[in-house]
Amino acid sequence: MIGKAKTRFFIRTFGCQMNVNDSEKVAGLLRAEGHEPAADPATADFIFVNTCAVREKAADKLYHSLSRLKKLKAERPGLRIGVGGCVAQLEGERILEKARHVDLLVGTHTLHRVPELLREAAGRPAVDLDRKANAFAVPDAAIDHLSPVRAYVTAIEGCNHVCSFCVVPRTRGPEVNRPPDAIVREVEGLVKRGYREVMLLGQTVNAYRFEDLDFADLLARVDVVRGLRRLRFTTSHPEHVTPRLADALRDLDTVCPYLHLPVQSGSDRVLASMRRGYDRRRYLATIALLRDRVPDLSLTSDIIVGYPGETDEEFQETLTLLQDVGFDGLFVFKYSPRPGTTALRLADDVPDEEKSRRLRVLNDHQQRLQRARNEARVGGRDKVLVDTIEPGGASGRTPQLRIVHLPGAGPNALVARLSQPIH
Ligand code: 5AD
Repeated sequence: MIGKAKTRFFIRTFGCQMNVNDSEKVAGLLRAEGHEPAADPATADFIFVNTCAVREKAADKLYHSLSRLKKLKAERPGLRIGVGGCVAQLEGERILEKARHVDLLVGTHTLHRVPELLREAAGRPAVDLDRKANAFAVPDAAIDHLSPVRAYVTAIEGCNHVCSFCVVPRTRGPEVNRPPDAIVREVEGLVKRGYREVMLLGQTVNAYRFEDLDFADLLARVDVVRGLRRLRFTTSHPEHVTPRLADALRDLDTVCPYLHLPVQSGSDRVLASMRRGYDRRRYLATIALLRDRVPDLSLTSDIIVGYPGETDEEFQETLTLLQDVGFDGLFVFKYSPRPGTTALRLADDVPDEEKSRRLRVLNDHQQRLQRARNEARVGGRDKVLVDTIEPGGASGRTPQLRIVHLPGAGPNALVARLSQPIH
């Protein structure tokens, strides 16, 4: 099993864009060593589960996944199983106690060691959970980007915020800013390989700082990479939205007028308890600044319902916030207590049915608002970067990240058009 034997690998990814990007790195590194991707778990010799710890449900998915894999391994003893990412970092070797069929365990900073550990994992599990390892250790060229047009590029690892509900600082550690030259070099390489769109990633990407460069400066550095068409970034924190960032969104050619700006709640009491660093008035002032400077800006957000002590009145304040802002998309989550967070000290006192009700009410309300916003665009024109071509048609995204379906634009019609240079 060891030595130079080539493996077919399958990676299962849970969670955010950073996790997707981490999996792209693992896939690329495995491929660089001659291993090959398998189309599905049933034909793989190595299955790697990249985990998410942000909500309890997300963490549970690991154990569900592992119990299914246990059966698979019983049928095929040569199968090896790896676990990595945020749950691995959080739970550590407890995973090996709960699931003895796991052969390899890496954290959030040691994913680049997967190929090496796979060689070592014979007979007993190979483990590296070192959080001080170099998070940027993967060579750019080794990253196996899933999309043919859009590539994720890491700008910051980790997070320095102390939001009461959030486990991420514990899993991914404090912020580490990647040098701007390395980011620009990676983008140049991607454009040469044909990518048209880049999404800069960080848990709070707009907190970026490297020596005297801030995030707006970084955008300006990447914007001038020749051949790049679209530049996006996620996730932004309201506290780090500056007039300079608004101007970058307006003035830089490649930067798309789109911002994901999680608000989490519309109630000042809840926001203070969450330690978000802004209140409702300040969030709305930030939105006003952005809308004032950036024409046709698209805004999306995250909201948590049923945070400890959230009253119906406080929930109503979140509901009215949707109206006041006019989001183009919304992700609503039920509060879930997480280990090592400060909110854990507060009673999780909103019953689950009530959390579900609030989630439904918010989603319904957002649907209505969103429909009206979308209907107002009927008859308009938008540039679409096609990213998916299927027999029945194609689809892609506008600069505002709206999905556009192009029914009937089948492969032949589009390939003929796409093979022309894009203007
Ligand atoms: N419970 C519920 N939702 C959470 N999020 C983060 N932590 C929790 C938690 N403990 C949500 C936030 C964040 C998104 C990625 O996940 O809304 O913005």
